[in-house]
Amino acid sequence: MREIVQLGAEALRKKAEAVGDVHDDDIRRIIADMQSTLAGTQGVGIAAPQIGESRRIIIVASRPTPRYPHAPQMEPTVMINPAFEPLSDHKEKDWEGCLSIPGIRALVPRYREILIRYTDQQGNFVELKLDGFVARIFQHEYDHLEGRVYLDSVENNRDIFSEREYFKLMEGC
Ligand code: NI
Repeated sequence: MREIVQLGAEALRKKAEAVGDVHDDDIRRIIADMQSTLAGTQGVGIAAPQIGESRRIIIVASRPTPRYPHAPQMEPTVMINPAFEPLSDHKEKDWEGCLSIPGIRALVPRYREILIRYTDQQGNFVELKLDGFVARIFQHEYDHLEGRVYLDSVENNRDIFSEREYFKLMEGC
């Protein structure tokens, strides 16, 4: 398990480097470290820059946790050199948080439906459609590879909440 890089660190603001060989020992080690680091949290995704590795690798791992009680269950999926395009211009706002920005939640507009492409750990090229919360996680993790964080995408500072106020709001739902 590696330490999760926190907001303010240079590593979160750099554009990450594409992966050449998915079978490379360094790449395998980074992926294993991302998997074990994510497993030790209540997060639903992680990007390599969050463990200080500036490479284009993300894990999307939607699952219901106390942090995200309504998240759909899926197998954690490692995505190398991911890319996407929106399938419509329609964006919707929903809550996000980030392991690199503890104690904060915010409403972020994201594309509802996207077509994604990535290379898996075996080197296969994968293309698939995502929507809703899983599409949201993908876009959040993808932003980390571009040196962006979700707070960069909020429309208004009033959409930023402390986690304590967020949980109070959720109790009322
Ligand atoms: Ni994040």
